[in-house]
Amino acid sequence: MSASNELEKAATAYALDAVRLDKQGQKGRAITLYQKAIESLLQLVQLYPEYGLNKVYVQRAIAYQERIKVLQGCVSSCEMNQAANNDADRSGGGGATMDGNGNGGGKPSEELVMTEKPKVNWAEVVGLDTAKKAVKEAIVYPVQRPDLFPLGWPRGILLFGPPGCGKTLLAAAVATEIDANFYSIDAASIMSKWLGEAEQNVAKLFGSARKSANEGRPAIVFVDELDSLMGTHSNEVGGEIRVKNQFLKEMDGIVDKGKPLHVYVIGATNKPWDLDWAFIRRFQKRILVPLADNATRLNMLKLYSSNLQIDPDVDLNELARISEGFSGSDIRDVCQSAQLSLIGEFFESGQAVDKEAKPRALTMADFKQIFEDRKPSVSLDMLSKYNGWFESFKAL
Ligand SMILES: Nc1ncnc2c1ncn2[C@@H]1O[C@H](COP(=O)(O)OP(=O)(O)OP(=O)(O)O)[C@@H](O)[C@H]1O
Ligand SMILES: [Mg+2]
Repeated sequence: MSASNELEKAATAYALDAVRLDKQGQKGRAITLYQKAIESLLQLVQLYPEYGLNKVYVQRAIAYQERIKVLQGCVSSCEMNQAANNDADRSGGGGATMDGNGNGGGKPSEELVMTEKPKVNWAEVVGLDTAKKAVKEAIVYPVQRPDLFPLGWPRGILLFGPPGCGKTLLAAAVATEIDANFYSIDAASIMSKWLGEAEQNVAKLFGSARKSANEGRPAIVFVDELDSLMGTHSNEVGGEIRVKNQFLKEMDGIVDKGKPLHVYVIGATNKPWDLDWAFIRRFQKRILVPLADNATRLNMLKLYSSNLQIDPDVDLNELARISEGFSGSDIRDVCQSAQLSLIGEFFESGQAVDKEAKPRALTMADFKQIFEDRKPSVSLDMLSKYNGWFESFKAL
């Protein structure tokens, strides 16, 4: 067995024992084992810096550390009172589950899942016409008139593309449009925080989504960073392969079986090439969310500057031109930065003490200054990689 496999195995064993002891209220021993799990994980990361799951390992090590802090906070007073604490932990939903805030208790699936409907409307999603059309055809119309789709409709939609171009925004807009319950999880958190319970929590999550749909409210399960579910190593820490299989099984469970059920899975990723075929196949729609073109950048600049006070010398067309290569998120940041530095200047000049005083309007020079200090966050290399993948795997 290779050294990496050994370490992974050791980390898994320590972590599972730690969680078990933690659940039983044996805090002192749990701390020791969490510590050992952290050591193994960090050793693994140091020895194999290129390994794809390292980010997950580090997150997990941090979660253990936070759990240790919580346990240490009460270890002296609690250990004596173990039995009582034990009961309290259990009634609190299981003391051994990481929620990332260092609070061991609580119900992980509920903490990681946001079901509140995000309020994003189509108008806030600038450009992306092809992607919008595809999600409308795949989700919005079937929800409105299922009777017009005798052959059924897709349930899995994959949004992929460079960071900051609107994948999350688009998913949120769909949820608003169909008034769906929105279950948002990111795959890295499933893997890092739901240790030992990840599989059950994936099942629970889909269970809630199906329940919502059965009760007449469509459900969207939005899985961000889908590529993190791809453990490719033979040996896994904390059950990556089982979680992935559970996920695939749940996706199969929502396809049409006579009864139209409005549960949709929208997956988002920056690294579609990391997904394996089992996943790709289940996302019948595969949609590129591309970098904005000139016209889209202009509309974004209009949107993000609409609440700002702009001098007539500001030429948005010119700004659209110089922001070539910038994502929507970059453009929002540019507008925000320009405004921030203007307000900073206003305060530093002492004018802000006068409650009636207003800052001056933003000028072209302000914007240009910001552009000078910023590079686009997406490279040409990356773009051609997305286009290449899209050409091979697209499904609109
Ligand atoms: N097409 C767009 N129209 C309007 N705003 C956008 C657009 N794309 C990005 N933005 C702005 O950038 C922010 C980040 O976008 P979003 O989170 O949707 O990107 P993403 O594609 O999901 O990125 P990541 O891959 O990093 O998760 C949005 O909240 C919004 O303010
Ligand atoms: Mg996103």
